[in-house]
Amino acid sequence: MTLWQGRIQGEPAPELMAFTVSLSVDLRLAEDDLAGCRAHVRGLERSGIIAGEEAKVLLTALDRVAQELEEATFVFRPGDEDVHTAIERRVTEIGGSVGAKLHTGRSRNDQVVTALRLYTKRQLRRVARAVVALQEVLLDRADAAGDTYLPGYTHLQRAQPVLLAHHLLAHGWALARDVDRLRATIVRLDVCPLGAGALAGSSLALDPDGVAADLGFARRFDNSLDAVADRDFVAEALFDLALLGVHLSRLGEEIVLWSTEEFGFLHLDDSWATGSSMLPQKKNPDVAELARGKSGRLIGQLAGFLATLKGLPLAYNRDLQEDKEPLFDAVDQMNLALPAICGLLATVGFDDHRMRAAADSDTSVAVDLAEWLVDRGMPFRDAHALVGGLVRSCIERHVPLAELVEAHPDLGTEALALFEPGVAVARRRTPGGAGPGPVAEQLARFRAVVRENGEALSE
Ligand code: ARG
Repeated sequence: MTLWQGRIQGEPAPELMAFTVSLSVDLRLAEDDLAGCRAHVRGLERSGIIAGEEAKVLLTALDRVAQELEEATFVFRPGDEDVHTAIERRVTEIGGSVGAKLHTGRSRNDQVVTALRLYTKRQLRRVARAVVALQEVLLDRADAAGDTYLPGYTHLQRAQPVLLAHHLLAHGWALARDVDRLRATIVRLDVCPLGAGALAGSSLALDPDGVAADLGFARRFDNSLDAVADRDFVAEALFDLALLGVHLSRLGEEIVLWSTEEFGFLHLDDSWATGSSMLPQKKNPDVAELARGKSGRLIGQLAGFLATLKGLPLAYNRDLQEDKEPLFDAVDQMNLALPAICGLLATVGFDDHRMRAAADSDTSVAVDLAEWLVDRGMPFRDAHALVGGLVRSCIERHVPLAELVEAHPDLGTEALALFEPGVAVARRRTPGGAGPGPVAEQLARFRAVVRENGEALSE
């Protein structure tokens, strides 16, 4: 039996049902649909549309449905095209003619999107909390990294030494923007569409403000057409998750790279690495690779859903049912990825020795030599050319750069001090820069941001 038996005669074609049902996907909205149903019933009662006794029957029936769903004794019927239909059908079975009042002044169009907003609010908070947990791991590792330094890269060529803490926190700040974005998306989506009906509101004296407050939404919709047609919040959530995924992919890629024999900057804990079915020697960074690989899927969910939305006329169209799978998948993937990446990162062993050795290569002090000359009055462009020339001849003549520096009249033995291990990185003093002074300050700022977000999200 369908919900529209008055207008449409007979049973729907099996192929129509097979193609249009969404129950297996939206079953996970049951809890949110029940919350929406209860608030709707209380609203109908407050407005005097149903009597107190009737509200009681409906709320009791909803409790029973909740229990049946929880205990997995709820019997779905072939006509239950989605979870919303199933719940209303069952309430009507339990509550008889009173049950048939549940849908008064409501359409699935406002009902579905109300449940989806409740779900999205809760899940984005959960994801944001998991991001904060990852930031805490980065913070701990950065804190413990002390004065360990490694080469900073541009174009994946060694550029200048940086503190390991600085490098780790660079990922941490990108994640801080992700948390900001998730929180801002939650604020924007915190709107209750219930009362918009199919598209135009109702002639009944509904109470959308009261229902919004009852469900814990910050406000009600402003425009009923927009309320049922808008899925910006899904697209925004997908963007936030895709960009978060891109950030995780960059972190993952560095873990892959750093764990190679060629780099050797870190080794993976055994419980966070995988072996090979054929190659006995292998220890593979699969978590880091999937952190990188999943981003493609997350980007795909966003791009696909934007294509679904494009050109849709107002208001509700069945196309909008396609909002759930990409969102659920992106949320599921993040809920799996973040704890795994946390565990991986918390247990990697950094090889300080390899990092320092790579950063102490002659040429990584090139810009420090140029700045040393600038300190002594030479225009930067001239200093750049002078040092660049020295690097070139040391490569051509196969002699150490230090030797040429010592012999150069503008540099000499005093400039040689820059080649001492760790000296170059310690000289970086720009606020926000890679040296110990600014990094200590940055650690404090980062810790405060992480704490503030953690507190805001735990409320
Ligand atoms: N399962 C559908 C969805 O998620 C329910 C809405 C159907 N509404 C309608 N007017 N046919 O969008």
